Amino acid sequence: MAKATRSSIQCCRIVLIMIWVLLAQYQIPISSIAVEPRGGGRSCKERERDALLSFKASIEDPSKVLSSWQTGQDCCRWRGVVCSNKTGHVVKLDLHNNFTIFNYDYEADVINYKFRTLGGEISPSLLAIEHLNYLNLSYNDFGRKRIPEFIGSFKNLKYLDLSDAGFGGSIPPQLGNLTKLLHLDLSSNSLESVDYIDWLPRLSSLKYLDMSEVNLSVAVDRVQVMSMLPASLRVLYLFDCNLNATFSSLPLYSSNLTSLVSLDLGYNYFHSTIPNGLLENMTSLEELGLEGNDLIGMVPETLKNLRNLNILDLSENQISGDIAELMKRLPPKIEELDLFGNNLTESLPSWLEHMTSLRSLDLSNNSLSGHIPSGIGKLTNLSSLDLSSNHLVGIISGDHFASLTRLEYLYLSDNSNLTMVVDPNWIPPFKLKYVDLSSCNLGPHFPTWIRSQTDIIYLTMSNSGIADRLPDWFWNVISLVKYLDLSLNQISGVLPSTLEFLSAALEINLNSNQFHGGVPQLPTSLQVLDLSNNSITSTIPLSMCNQVQSLRILDLSHNHLSGQLPQCLTSRKSFRADPGDLTPIGSKLSIVSFRNNNLSGEFPLFFRDCQYLNFLDLSYNNFYGSLPIWIGKRLPQLAFLLLRSNMFSGYIPIQLAKLDYLHVLDLAHNNLSGTIAPSLVNFTAMTTVSSYGSYYVPDFISLLVVTKGQALEYYTKTIMSLVSSLDLSSNCLTGKIPEEIGGLATLKNLNLSGNRLIGYIPETMGGLQSLESLDLSNNELYGEIPPTLSALTFLSYLNLSYNNLSGRIPSGQQLQTFDDPSVYEGNNDLCGPPISKNCSGDGTTLNDPLEQERGNDTSSFYLCMSLGFAVGLWVVIGPLLFKRTWSVIYFLFIDNICDKIYVFMVLNWARLIANIKKK
Ligand SMILES: *[C@@H]1O[C@H](CO)[C@@H](O)[C@H](O)[C@H]1NC(C)=O
Ligand SMILES: *[C@@H]1O[C@H](CO)[C@@H](O)[C@H](O)[C@H]1NC(C)=O
Ligand SMILES: *[C@@H]1O[C@H](CO)[C@@H](O)[C@H](O)[C@H]1NC(C)=O
Ligand SMILES: *[C@@H]1O[C@H](CO)[C@@H](O)[C@H](O)[C@H]1NC(C)=O
Ligand SMILES: *[C@@H]1O[C@H](CO)[C@@H](O)[C@H](O)[C@H]1NC(C)=O
Ligand SMILES: *[C@@H]1O[C@H](CO)[C@@H](O)[C@H](O)[C@H]1NC(C)=O
Ligand SMILES: *[C@@H]1O[C@H](CO)[C@@H](O)[C@H](O)[C@H]1NC(C)=O
Repeated sequence: MAKATRSSIQCCRIVLIMIWVLLAQYQIPISSIAVEPRGGGRSCKERERDALLSFKASIEDPSKVLSSWQTGQDCCRWRGVVCSNKTGHVVKLDLHNNFTIFNYDYEADVINYKFRTLGGEISPSLLAIEHLNYLNLSYNDFGRKRIPEFIGSFKNLKYLDLSDAGFGGSIPPQLGNLTKLLHLDLSSNSLESVDYIDWLPRLSSLKYLDMSEVNLSVAVDRVQVMSMLPASLRVLYLFDCNLNATFSSLPLYSSNLTSLVSLDLGYNYFHSTIPNGLLENMTSLEELGLEGNDLIGMVPETLKNLRNLNILDLSENQISGDIAELMKRLPPKIEELDLFGNNLTESLPSWLEHMTSLRSLDLSNNSLSGHIPSGIGKLTNLSSLDLSSNHLVGIISGDHFASLTRLEYLYLSDNSNLTMVVDPNWIPPFKLKYVDLSSCNLGPHFPTWIRSQTDIIYLTMSNSGIADRLPDWFWNVISLVKYLDLSLNQISGVLPSTLEFLSAALEINLNSNQFHGGVPQLPTSLQVLDLSNNSITSTIPLSMCNQVQSLRILDLSHNHLSGQLPQCLTSRKSFRADPGDLTPIGSKLSIVSFRNNNLSGEFPLFFRDCQYLNFLDLSYNNFYGSLPIWIGKRLPQLAFLLLRSNMFSGYIPIQLAKLDYLHVLDLAHNNLSGTIAPSLVNFTAMTTVSSYGSYYVPDFISLLVVTKGQALEYYTKTIMSLVSSLDLSSNCLTGKIPEEIGGLATLKNLNLSGNRLIGYIPETMGGLQSLESLDLSNNELYGEIPPTLSALTFLSYLNLSYNNLSGRIPSGQQLQTFDDPSVYEGNNDLCGPPISKNCSGDGTTLNDPLEQERGNDTSSFYLCMSLGFAVGLWVVIGPLLFKRTWSVIYFLFIDNICDKIYVFMVLNWARLIANIKKK
């Protein structure tokens, strides 16, 4: 399952990365008005200044956007205020929030963005500014308040932008009084309960209307209104408006929208065919978006009538049929065609080469088959080609690109069997910027034509059969790269000692290759690094210390890293940004995996400053020492904590239960001791279905969980979010299983095996309603198996072997499915099916628990017995631990004469005993 998910998610990942890369370049439209020089010479009217000041007084402005608004100063020079050159009246007010979110859905950016928003009350005093013709309050947050009715009284208003400003409730019909309005944008608010929109047709001058994300499903007159929209409209965006009536009842075609140039009706889930009559007379239409509408069947022939159409977006629908037939019905001037995510079949027609106006063609995620016609190489205007995720086969040669001099975007990934065969000396006519050739056959030699592609920003050649040394020229060629993915090949070579010259790089993914050498010095721009599953040796370099502040995702798992982490990561140093800087304090790391190396040392103190840490995997290393209490306090976002197979010792801090998002806790195979405190088994995220924060998880990050007797790897955030696991197996835990454990109603995997737990299996465990796998084997549990366990309807793995359980095995519903006697093996006093021993009469004897403890001879018992040996050592080492200098000298001494690991073991045990003594 995990593998399949991994490949199918490839395109989704590309989309995400693309959005991210594009957003990084894209500025949220910052209208130049905000910085334009204000009113030539004339100072502002007192009345208007007073109005602005009382507006300011009721506004919440945490980041002091309006700090230039001071009494006694010329208000025409205030930020966002523009006065008329002629009259000196205030004519424009542009208070949009221009903070750009350009990283993943990263919380710090969201916090910063929120910080810069205006909120509070919008004072009607503004009405004194009678000549206002432009008002922009977009990208602020007015906390779901209603749009003030008085805005309808600005009788000179021509431009009104209230988009993404956190308004809620219904739209005041007074807006219909703004008869001079040319531009109205109410999109991306929480405007929901709109009963009537009959005020809309009154805006008779309107040229631009964006009501995207306004819920119009409750507008009883919406059908009528759509036929009466002002004929002046040139741009109409009704994206995600819940117009999910069938298309035919939306009488856009009988309206007078003959001037419409741009129309977007995306994500309204029409679920119908595109009616023939629709759009028929909108002959001026140049851009049409019908994406995400669940449209079915073939496009109508009348589409051809839209003779001015050059951009058509029909992506994410269920349009089906022969791609050649669809292309026949396209208007002649089509330049951008987006059919991503439909059900189109058959092969691309050879006459495609005549569609010479095409600039952008996206046919990805369909069911296209056959060869790619080489005539595609004649589309001289083509700059973007996406044929990924289809069933295309065959050879792509230089002919396919013969005249594509403008090609910048090339995506051919995830097809059935595409092989690129070009002459090793081929010099392509294009200079690509965005390239995705994942799962195409490019190898075995590293493609040499890349050498000419010095403009590359995005390069993915994952799983493309390359088994070669990485050429030396490669890193210089890609000096502009932001995103690089060469994963899942057999590329070898030593990584350069520094990659700092890749100064734009945001993500580098080289996982599952044969790279060796050390971890390179990284560009400070880098946010994501995946070097997992290579042969990276030596220790983590000191340079990582600077890196960890900008990196968000770091995966070095499955390598040969050894030794301690650099001191900066293990010391108490706090990462404080300079005071003027508004970015949050500390590291931005959210995902860290060092799984399966030979790293050692105590739990790195550096993580104290990683307030965004969400996923931490240190499993299969040699870390030792106690688990710090501060994990519960300093890592509030932690959802995955994986420390399996290390040498951690001491108690499990109950503070872990304070982690609201923790839903996978794997502490198995350590030397943890003490009891399982009732207050520990109180994880919110294992008790209720909760949201797991807004972190970003790239698809290469895997979550390894041992459940149902096997190790399973999970990929992608969606799937990882569904995993809920508590694994404390193979430690030295003692005492009873607390009854409170039964409260973990959403827990799916519970493994407490291989400890020294005693007492009864609590009846409350019947409350673990979501449990799929339960392993309590190899403990010293006694008494009867509570019949409540048969209520665990999702249970598909059970192991109660090697305890001292007794009595009749309950025969309830779910337990009956476990007919393999090995589930109960090693419990001498159990009887009844599925084991062969019959129960004598009905009586169940309660055995003497002490007797049973003595009788236990499992391996965990021996493991824990070795602690006795540690107690002996404690006599020697204990006092040394109290006197720090002494202990340092002592350990240095030991270091010289003993095996290092031996010292770690000793230290480990000593700490365990120290903890026990403290209690
Ligand atoms: C005011 O005058 C300046 C220079 O003459 C001009 O650039 C600017 O666009 C004018 N502003 C308005 C609002 O008319
Ligand atoms: C504005 O619109 C409202 C409701 O649509 C109406 O009652 C009111 O009279 C109008 N005001 C003006 C000044 O036109
Ligand atoms: C369309 O325009 C014509 C004339 O310009 C007008 O008579 C008619 O009422 C309009 N139809 C609608 C639905 O607005
Ligand atoms: C489109 O326009 C033609 C001619 O102006 C007219 O006869 C026809 O009825 C219109 N179609 C629709 C669906 O309104
Ligand atoms: C490591 O990479 C190899 C190919 O280089 C692959 O077969 C293997 O599955 C990968 N292992 C992990 C744990 O990703
Ligand atoms: C579990 O947590 C809740 C609140 O988070 C608290 O009220 C309750 O006392 C805790 N239970 C135990 C046994 O600590
Ligand atoms: C059940 O647990 C025992 C002891 O931990 C183990 O030896 C056995 O393999 C487990 N059984 C299954 C089916 O996983």
